Amino acid sequence: MSKIRLEPINDDNFFAITKLRLKREQKNFVADNTYSLVHAYLNVINGKPVFPFGIFCDDKPVGFVMIAYDNLSEKVKDNPLCNWFICDNYMIWRLMIDKKYQGKGYAKEAMKLALDFVRTLPSGPAKYCWLSYDINNSVARNLYSSFGFKEVPSAYYENGEMPAILEL
Ligand SMILES: CC(C)(COP(=O)(O)OP(=O)(O)OC[C@H]1O[C@@H](n2cnc3c(N)ncnc32)[C@H](O)[C@@H]1OP(=O)(O)O)[C@@H](O)C(=O)NCCC(=O)NCCS
Repeated sequence: MSKIRLEPINDDNFFAITKLRLKREQKNFVADNTYSLVHAYLNVINGKPVFPFGIFCDDKPVGFVMIAYDNLSEKVKDNPLCNWFICDNYMIWRLMIDKKYQGKGYAKEAMKLALDFVRTLPSGPAKYCWLSYDINNSVARNLYSSFGFKEVPSAYYENGEMPAILEL
């Protein structure tokens, strides 16, 4: 039986992870993995915790996900509609499974592992884990809701992303 695991991005695996691709109609749902790794780098140099992981099925790279903490941009810092669940809380970010490997239960397994990791509170205490998705992304929406994430419509982003939170 094949086994899904999360492997921290490192010198040996980053290139394979940047090669993973989405279906054409999914491209607006999540940034390209190379862009996400640059974003992770920017977090790191600004002293913000971020944990980028390759998702592996046995030894095969099949996806990508990041976990961030307190990922508060200047834009939302003073916004009471969203800073209450972003500030001092974890975020699951940029989850994707390569188009060749979708529909096999890999994202579900990866989400379980990502939440196990979050619950170790690697960057400090937190009340919530949050994430956001395009409101037209019904596969992601159902996936997250199956883990107990609840939408926060009052914090709905102008760019069409719906945030959802899970109490840890
Ligand atoms: C969302 C995504 C990560 C799901 O990955 P996946 O490995 O295919 O998902 P799984 O196989 O674990 O399936 C999870 C659930 O979604 C359902 N599902 C998966 N693909 C589906 C599809 N194309 N249509 C309908 N349902 C689908 C599965 O049946 C399963 O539901 P169940 O628990 O009721 O059985 C993947 O579709 C993807 O990478 N999409 C593009 C990027 C994206 O949208 N990321 C999320 C950003 S917020």
